[in-house]
Amino acid sequence: MFTSALTCFPRICYHLLPFVLLRFFLLLQFCKGWVPDQSTKLTFPMTRVPSISFKGNSSSIDYFNVLYQDDNSILLGGRNQIYNLSLSDFSQRRDATIYWPSSEAHGQLCNLKGKTEDDCQNYIRIFFYTAPEKFLVCGTNSYKPLCRILYRKNGRLFIEKETEGIGLCPYDPEHNSTAVFSNGHLYSATVADFSATDPLIYREPLRTELSDLRQLNAPNFVSSLTYGDYIYFFYRETAVEYMNCGKVIYSRVARVCKHDKGGPHPSTRDRWTTFLKARLNCSVPGEYPFYFDEIQSTSGIIEGKYGREGTSKIVYGTLTTPNNAIGGSAICMFRMDDIEDVFNGPFKHQESINANWLPLPEHKVPSPRPGRCEPDSRVLPDKNVNFIKTHPLMERAVPAMNGRPLLIRVSLHYRLTAIAVDPQVRTISDETFDVIYVGTDDGRVLKIVNIPTHNSSKAVVLSESEVFGKNAPVKQLKIAPGYGKVVAVSRNEVKLVTLNHCGTITRCSECLELRDPHCAWDSLKGACVSVDAVTSFRYHIQDVRRGNASKCRLQPLDAPSPKEYDIKSLDTNSVDEDEKEPSDDLLRLDADSTECSNDIDGATTGCASQSKLTLYTPEYLRIFVAVSSLVGLFIGFLCGYLVSRRFHTHPQYPNQAFIEQHNHLDRLTVNQNSFLAPRNKTVNLDVLNVSTDSLPPKKDNLGSLKNLNITNEGTLQKIKKTYI
Ligand SMILES: *[C@@H]1O[C@H](CO)[C@@H](O)[C@H](O)[C@H]1NC(C)=O
Ligand SMILES: *[C@@H]1O[C@H](CO)[C@@H](O)[C@H](O)[C@H]1NC(C)=O
Ligand SMILES: *[C@@H]1O[C@H](CO)[C@@H](O)[C@H](O)[C@H]1NC(C)=O
Ligand SMILES: *[C@@H]1O[C@H](CO)[C@@H](O)[C@H](O)[C@H]1NC(C)=O
Ligand SMILES: *[C@@H]1O[C@H](CO)[C@@H](O)[C@H](O)[C@H]1NC(C)=O
Ligand SMILES: *[C@@H]1O[C@H](CO)[C@@H](O)[C@H](O)[C@H]1NC(C)=O
Repeated sequence: MFTSALTCFPRICYHLLPFVLLRFFLLLQFCKGWVPDQSTKLTFPMTRVPSISFKGNSSSIDYFNVLYQDDNSILLGGRNQIYNLSLSDFSQRRDATIYWPSSEAHGQLCNLKGKTEDDCQNYIRIFFYTAPEKFLVCGTNSYKPLCRILYRKNGRLFIEKETEGIGLCPYDPEHNSTAVFSNGHLYSATVADFSATDPLIYREPLRTELSDLRQLNAPNFVSSLTYGDYIYFFYRETAVEYMNCGKVIYSRVARVCKHDKGGPHPSTRDRWTTFLKARLNCSVPGEYPFYFDEIQSTSGIIEGKYGREGTSKIVYGTLTTPNNAIGGSAICMFRMDDIEDVFNGPFKHQESINANWLPLPEHKVPSPRPGRCEPDSRVLPDKNVNFIKTHPLMERAVPAMNGRPLLIRVSLHYRLTAIAVDPQVRTISDETFDVIYVGTDDGRVLKIVNIPTHNSSKAVVLSESEVFGKNAPVKQLKIAPGYGKVVAVSRNEVKLVTLNHCGTITRCSECLELRDPHCAWDSLKGACVSVDAVTSFRYHIQDVRRGNASKCRLQPLDAPSPKEYDIKSLDTNSVDEDEKEPSDDLLRLDADSTECSNDIDGATTGCASQSKLTLYTPEYLRIFVAVSSLVGLFIGFLCGYLVSRRFHTHPQYPNQAFIEQHNHLDRLTVNQNSFLAPRNKTVNLDVLNVSTDSLPPKKDNLGSLKNLNITNEGTLQKIKKTYI
């Protein structure tokens, strides 16, 4: 039986080997850029995160959405009302709540169309000041979007005008829409029909082409912003230029000119003449770049010093791998200058419907260049208007700043969602650093500092705090006044959280090694203090750039023993545990997660920082890579062995049909156990167990693992040469 199974291997190997090798190289390449990003200095369970919660109408779901924010107040769009909360104590200003339910007729009509009671409410999604004391509000209005212009007079609110909100406001409160207000106009990116099949970018009366997949192809809009003469939209959509089988989603930035007046003919009068879009490239460079293709959120435009001379204007974005792939997320920075360069570069062109998309030669681009702001687009030649309709896509992708992500996180448990940036926080030595907050889809918020060095940037993850339960993704994050204050929004809860960790730290070395620009060590008081509470920095020390605690040696109050705090020492602990149970890594990983999920209500703190740290240590990755390479090696060896046997001793297997039959059987079993099915964790476990059982070298310590890694790499490359 064993031999017959072996005879079937070669055939399978031909299919399997390239995948195994590719995956292996990707992983190897991936970890190089990944490992340094993995440590988190502090982790806090929900009970240790200071926060004030706002639940709105607790008897029903609110689908919260931050509408507007100033120094004192934040406005939340919810179910049938706009809540006005104070940003200092997060108390609801009940007298300033704007109440706006759907009319009974609209509610009934909505019910008739088969929507639920929860759907048939007015969820407020849009709020912009159009003049002082006057604002535009739009709501889903029971799946019949409606807008109002309200004004305030003598402390009372009046309705000036009520208009249809189709194309401005989504029908579904959870639809991924965005809007921005500029020069008296609302620019929206949403859907214009009940069944959400007509996506559009709209400013009365201009819109993108109806059902033209070249312009918008099942988009999920993420954000919009105004910059110069243009409005920019960030979103993800099905990639029309991807010509292989299957569908792929790419991230995009699109722009329209604010002065666009539509085309010259009646048929083009209500169409953009300046709509252009480009792909966003957030990837780990290499022979096979690893892409994070699905944008989830962006910051606003941030101007700061990032290593280069002068300042740059950038946008931070969180991008992830597709839902059905290995859970990977990244933070990328995109320079506005790079975005503009791409829009000034070559266009992509498709000769015919099934042809590949190729760069269009410069001499075929009409003049004036399509997509630029023109004084009056209504006098443009037809040629230009038709060109931009068929060539909305730019050839080049917008590169991430420094050519790589600022941070990468790979995890089976979570992806990054919302992002917010506290720009250019000043240290006591007058350097400035961006402090970044990112949410996860399992209810946590990461605090990160971006430390630029001449032509690259390093992200240090300061803390991970549990803000909502595991099943409540963080949908939006907003910076509130005060160091470390953030408003985190989930579907039916909003929290003002304080992620200022200075007070939790008691030693000088810890305070400096944390590298949080918000914290400095006060050598007079002997305490780690928040910098915004300090007026004179004479007795303060801080080292955000290097995190070097050697300055603490001068402090009598702090015997410098960074080891006790240092993350590396925590890692070593976790490695000790690994030594005890070498083959259980993935199992432990799952066990941890179930343990933690009991803590949703913050009742216990069983899921302490240490178990989380072990999950994502470089050691864990190394073991994973080593084991996968061992599996690769094992398969490779079998292939080599069997192919040679097969060619040399053919007469041994006279019955082709017999072999064929087993071929099917084994292909089935092998495929199920292969790394080609990474989605199923238990499958991976099987492979791991099999390989550790069948391979002699036990991983008794990390040193031997490293050695294995190196030798495997060599062997695999040889196999690749011979059999691919
Ligand atoms: C909360 O929602 C319920 C059900 O929609 C509604 O009857 C009630 O009036 C709401 N309460 C407030 C304070 O809005
Ligand atoms: C929110 O409440 C504050 C305090 O009452 C008020 O000054 C502010 O104008 C309100 N905002 C809106 C948009 O109503
Ligand atoms: C909106 O975006 C979220 C987060 O990326 C996603 O989970 C959700 O499915 C999207 N909504 C729609 C209607 O596609
Ligand atoms: C994206 O960027 C990476 C690294 O900078 C580069 O290798 C790759 O070719 C780029 N991809 C596209 C589609 O531009
Ligand atoms: C960074 O700059 C140095 C010298 O200025 C250069 O040699 C190096 O190639 C640059 N690295 C990248 C990634 O651009
Ligand atoms: C910290 O700074 C001291 C003196 O400036 C230096 O000697 C030491 O090597 C630095 N340590 C690290 C880890 O950079």
